[in-house]
Amino acid sequence: MKLPNSVRIVEVGPRDGLQNERGEFISTDIKVELIDSLGNAGLTHIEAASFVSPKWVPQMADATEVMSGIKRKEGVTYSALTPNVIGLEGAIKAHASEVAVFSAASEAFTKKNINCSISESLDRFIPVIEKAQSAGIPVRGYVSTVIGCPYAGNISPKQVAAIAKQMLDMGCYEISLGDTIGIGTPKIVKTMLEAVSSVVPTKQLAVHFHDTYGQAIANIYSALEEGITVIDSSVAGLGGCPYAKGASGNVATEDVVYLLEGLGIKTGVNLKDLVKTSHWITKQLGKNNNSKVAIAMGDNQA
Ligand code: HMG
Ligand code: MG
Repeated sequence: MKLPNSVRIVEVGPRDGLQNERGEFISTDIKVELIDSLGNAGLTHIEAASFVSPKWVPQMADATEVMSGIKRKEGVTYSALTPNVIGLEGAIKAHASEVAVFSAASEAFTKKNINCSISESLDRFIPVIEKAQSAGIPVRGYVSTVIGCPYAGNISPKQVAAIAKQMLDMGCYEISLGDTIGIGTPKIVKTMLEAVSSVVPTKQLAVHFHDTYGQAIANIYSALEEGITVIDSSVAGLGGCPYAKGASGNVATEDVVYLLEGLGIKTGVNLKDLVKTSHWITKQLGKNNNSKVAIAMGDNQA
């Protein structure tokens, strides 16, 4: 298939990246500066916070302060995760431009992540989506563990398709398909995407790869060939999922931008500015940089 001319990158570093930092609490100022720098680097869709229980994910406890600290840029969507109505109410008060509900294709993972069954999670989303829609806020839906689950093993593409379709029918405008533990390879990804695309229009699908086994860039290429035009990624490859053992990091945004630039696909992102942000945040966190491109381009971009 012909590759797309442009791709929308959904930057999930400030949420998916930072939620997994288990050491010291990362200051609100650092979170805000990260989000502002990502916007300045040209990212137009930034998942900025998560209105979840602070008992479950302590690192996201300052979601309200983060949302009020950022300097909002015109044309940039600042989204937040909202697992239930409590979360949605917080996100509305904090002026999130978009919210996201999240379930999974695995019962075991859903239980660990949001403490309910898949069908209970979907029931819980009904009032979240209704209230968000009446407040004029678009809702994105995540389906995790679309290839495999750390507890339940392989996941059938049919199961992924069924949940994605239900979330679409409930009112999500886009469904992001997460290979939460990064075990996918291009052929399996293609089979899964074919199954989901048979019930959800490809234009309404996004892919969310973790790079645990170093397959994320290959999987993204496979997704582009299937007609996918929305890709989730995280600056410096930050992140993982606190409830997915082995989910060692999202694909790095720098690596995705480099791939897309090489393919002549527009993203609107300035790679040099992004790499600067990448080195800055890894220094703040005292972590190694997980982006091959950021390492190759070096830390003296000024
Ligand atoms: P629960 O314990 O079953 O729910 O948690 P509960 O309703 O009994 O609430 C427990 C306490 O939390 C109560 O407080 C509630 O008020 C409070 P208490 O009475 O004990 O003082 N509470 C909240 N507080 C703040 N904000 C809220 C909220 N809701 C309840 N929204 C719940 C259920 C869903 C809340 C919990 O399991 C939770 O917050 N889970 C979040 C898990 C999470 O954030 N996981 C990471 C994101 S998903 C991911 O990373 C995957 C993704 O990246 C895609 C991929 O990679 O595959 C998206
Ligand atoms: Mg993730």
